[in-house]
Amino acid sequence: MVLLSPSPAEYVLEATGLRYEIPGRRLLDGADLRVAAGQSVAVTGPSGSGKSTLLMCLLGLQQLKSGRIEISGRDITAMRSGQLARHRRDSIGMVFQFAELLPELPPLENVALAALLAGQNRKVAFTRAEDLLDELGVGAAARDTATADLSGGERQRVAVARALINEPALLVGDEPTGALDEGNRDSVASLLFSLPQRWSCGLLIVTHDHSIAERADHHLVLRQGTLQAAEREGSSL
Ligand SMILES: Nc1ncnc2c1ncn2[C@@H]1O[C@H](COP(=O)(O)OP(=O)(O)O)[C@@H](O)[C@H]1O
Ligand SMILES: [Mg+2]
Repeated sequence: MVLLSPSPAEYVLEATGLRYEIPGRRLLDGADLRVAAGQSVAVTGPSGSGKSTLLMCLLGLQQLKSGRIEISGRDITAMRSGQLARHRRDSIGMVFQFAELLPELPPLENVALAALLAGQNRKVAFTRAEDLLDELGVGAAARDTATADLSGGERQRVAVARALINEPALLVGDEPTGALDEGNRDSVASLLFSLPQRWSCGLLIVTHDHSIAERADHHLVLRQGTLQAAEREGSSL
């Protein structure tokens, strides 16, 4: 017998029926989202449409009204906070708009720290951090500089290295190219979209930038609290 639909285990993220409200407004109103290993998904929507809120819900950092979220095949909505924090640390890498690195630490330590906090031994953490920075194109000169003095593009590459060091099943980015100039935006986007193939992870990016979103395998639009395929945008049917 041939099974035509993928089994749930192939999805690194499977979210169904997400509902989230703030006073006077329903930000998520039955949103569904799936990301498979090796695949990229982008979600667009205007500023204030709830993209960051969607990510915070998916990370388990904001409490849903209802819905179900499985990450790496495990339902995070049923987890207690300590268990959820460990699962998030072990399964998800995050990249934010302004990199959110520790400015007083050099890039190598910023990256290695994420592995140390996950219980990795010092030697492995630093070797892996070094290898990742090499692979992601952060040169030796930038590595010896205080993170605060790096360019925006370099900072985002360090942030991607930090997000990858614990070999997450899912990588998420909230406007990860939003603070970059055009050249860096393009090269950081190319780096991000190469990751699902190279690292067999799922990639989920939320952005208001359609030119970035169009490079993803799947482009969804957040509209009135639901997620729809972007092709339908503008249809008057
Ligand atoms: N916890 C909250 N309390 C009140 N308002 C919130 C909260 N979280 C988000 N909002 C509001 O919800 C809307 C969506 O925010 P956000 O998810 O940041 O949108 P986006 O990332 O698409 O710009 C905004 O109007 C924001 O001010
Ligand atoms: Mg946002």
